[in-house]
Amino acid sequence: MAQLWGGRFTGETDALVYRFNASIGFDKKLFGQDVEGSIAHVVMLEKQGIITCEEKDAIVKGLTQIRKDVEEGKLAITDQYEDIHSFVEAELIRRIGDAGKKMHTGRSRNDQVALDMKLYVRGEILELSDRLLTLSETLLTIMEENQAVYMPGFTHLQKAQPTTLAHHMGAYFEMFKRDLLRLSDIYKRMNYCPLGAGAFAGTTYPLDRAYTASLLGFEGPTLNSMDSVADRDYLIELLAALSTVMMHLSRFSEEIIIWNSNEYRFVELDDGFSTGSSIMPQKKNPDIAELVRGKTGRVYGALMSLLTTMKGIPLAYNKDMQEDKEVSFDAIETVKDCLVLFNGMLGTMKFNHKIMEQSAMNGFTNATDAADYLVGKGVPFRDAHGIIGRLVLYCIDKDKSIDALSLEELKQISPVFEADIYDAISLKTCVEKRLTIGAPGSAAMAEVIRLNRVFLDAYKNEHHKNGS
Ligand code: ARG
Repeated sequence: MAQLWGGRFTGETDALVYRFNASIGFDKKLFGQDVEGSIAHVVMLEKQGIITCEEKDAIVKGLTQIRKDVEEGKLAITDQYEDIHSFVEAELIRRIGDAGKKMHTGRSRNDQVALDMKLYVRGEILELSDRLLTLSETLLTIMEENQAVYMPGFTHLQKAQPTTLAHHMGAYFEMFKRDLLRLSDIYKRMNYCPLGAGAFAGTTYPLDRAYTASLLGFEGPTLNSMDSVADRDYLIELLAALSTVMMHLSRFSEEIIIWNSNEYRFVELDDGFSTGSSIMPQKKNPDIAELVRGKTGRVYGALMSLLTTMKGIPLAYNKDMQEDKEVSFDAIETVKDCLVLFNGMLGTMKFNHKIMEQSAMNGFTNATDAADYLVGKGVPFRDAHGIIGRLVLYCIDKDKSIDALSLEELKQISPVFEADIYDAISLKTCVEKRLTIGAPGSAAMAEVIRLNRVFLDAYKNEHHKNGS
């Protein structure tokens, strides 16, 4: 057991207490960030004349060597330390002696861990955004290629009106676009540096907090030292945004599972993204979609867990907050995996155009358009609705679609029908007449695809410029 705070204690820590209290088992994930933050801290200490140039050089050299040794597998991060901060400091002191003991001047583990976690989250937001961007590009390509592929649109999982595959995919594109923008928002809001807050009340050393913040790529220092060590809002926001990403992926997964069923056969999953059954040789199961749907629960769980952890703790730092890590790490890794796997599944999936189109032809998806046709001939909409309702009943009885009826049969139901009804309710007309922006008609859809291409290009430009 190696602790930073032995001085005040005479007795040994109970072994169970030590294990319960320790966080090295999971915060070793923050090793890189801990070293990065410490280097910025000592560079600032030297600039402010708090440590000498030689001390700063020795510390930076020592930390850089420790990082290299860990990366190359020459130095293991072991459980004999309480947390990652203790590990780095102890290893530094072991290597460079007294200069190493000055690294923690004007710093507390409270602002240190707040910084490490922010540095980690910042990097992960960029990674998550990248993966969301890739998924959005896959979707936009599918949209471009499927503007004239007709399919039924559903409400209550009942066929409602015809639409296109591009339009249906476009709905998900908009969801992921909002997810991407939410992540950018969170990044901007959280990008302030807590280092220098000390335990919670700042420090008596003349630290230059703005300088440390700029060295680490932050917008500036945080403005209240108590809030700096106690704030986990940015994690809660991130977990809420990630829960929303998972909710979107889960809905999409559910649709793919339905579309991949023997009854629908709208899509066929690639062999590489499906699994078989140990007993039923014919099975090709959509396990990836099911797992993405299933893993949504653990990401929601992380959000609820942290919200609950934070709800009753007084200012400023309390050890409860150590609980922010495992759930956040797990949720972030889960969403990263889900985004990559889902993108792979979507990009290799085959859409069965013929079956989709056939499905749109039956199920009376053109009933609204038939009513609109009557309205065009002067029938009030409410009456037209009633006439088409009776027409549908007749069709069900005869087991025919509306366009399969003869003009005589149609006229028996309403004398207003003319020969132009067939064209008016064809699948193509039903879709193509829907031309308001956001609708599936080809001109409207083409404009939306153009706007979204512009959005993705602008996003990529912005992203590469700021690294945010
Ligand atoms: N392991 C702690 C955490 O994750 C680091 C901060 C410890 N601070 C303290 N005062 N004990 O929150």
